[in-house]
Amino acid sequence: MVNKSILISCIEGDGIGPELLQAARIVLKSLVESFDLKLDFVNVAAGDRELRKTGRALPNESFKLIQESDVCLKAPVGESAKETIVRIRQELDLYANVRPARNYPFIPSKFSDVDLVIVRENTEDLYVGFERRAQNGRKATALKVVTSKASERIAKFAFELAMVRKQAREKPRSVVCITKSNVLRITDGLFVKRCERVSRKYPQVLFQKMYVDTAAMNLIRAPESFDVIVTTNMYGDILSDEASQLVGGLGVSPSANIGRKFALFEPVHGCAPDIAGKGIANPLAMILSVEMMLDWLGETRLCKRCHEAAQTLDKAICSIGASGIKTPDIGGRATTLQVAEAISKEIKLLASSSSFSDDRVEMTKLVNPIASST
Ligand code: IPM
Ligand code: MN
Repeated sequence: MVNKSILISCIEGDGIGPELLQAARIVLKSLVESFDLKLDFVNVAAGDRELRKTGRALPNESFKLIQESDVCLKAPVGESAKETIVRIRQELDLYANVRPARNYPFIPSKFSDVDLVIVRENTEDLYVGFERRAQNGRKATALKVVTSKASERIAKFAFELAMVRKQAREKPRSVVCITKSNVLRITDGLFVKRCERVSRKYPQVLFQKMYVDTAAMNLIRAPESFDVIVTTNMYGDILSDEASQLVGGLGVSPSANIGRKFALFEPVHGCAPDIAGKGIANPLAMILSVEMMLDWLGETRLCKRCHEAAQTLDKAICSIGASGIKTPDIGGRATTLQVAEAISKEIKLLASSSSFSDDRVEMTKLVNPIASST
């Protein structure tokens, strides 16, 4: 299994997307060379440009290329995100959206001990896309869908993650379930009930319930107190942007969309058309998404070298950051590609001198606790 090559479908997206994918590919090239990884790449057309060109944001051929690949690496797309990423999440049943937020010493932030993960249900809630107009457009409604099945599986994912994830600083392992079940008693009520039920199987993990308004406040008041957060799709979307601001912003916030057999990795941020082409976009959200991808491949493909590559990548990111090579959004003066090139060089250096002491704050087992527990 280790020798079979892994096919990565790549979506370059819109706005800053192409620069970010280019940065990711530079880093991947050096990882492939240093760790003898067998990776193949296929480019997949999707997003606003594709919509303008062909009338479809995600043509069937593109969707097929993604389906036939082993994993997908995606840069942000623009206004057609609903037709691309939301569709991919739903059709490929990538039910767990994993969004870590942790402080790095080299990234300026008001906080220093944040180390949390948002586990966002990724297939239902208001994102099912059922909106209707009535009364000649004077009334509009949207449908919120919550099922036992989806709630239970995302709760299980969150608890498994809480059990296995390596924390930066030891604290009680906990899962906080965030909803608005005091108002949405039936829909969010069902989500909470299912999380509660799953929680009974994990007596080692502290379970708490929190309303989303309180959670938004507590994330700013005492972000260090959070470990794993499990929540529905829309609250997860909003809270993950908030959480990114605790650790340096969207420029450094990666994510994983994980299903039973397939996964897609992408930055949390959008395609930032205002800074496209200027060379100032921070590639770290994208590069940290590559790190998560390598760990996921390590878990699901039993690919030890993928884990080693992820570990070395993390070290390279930290040492390049510490040496001051970073983009303006986090206090540096380097360009997108300079950061990528520097990380790529550092990888080669580390790999040629390395023995794998496992002292990084691990991403390992952050990306697929279900696979690692079975
Ligand atoms: C995200 C994005 C998407 C979402 C948009 C672009 C559809 O904001 O991944 O967080 O709402 O899920
Ligand atoms: Mn979002």
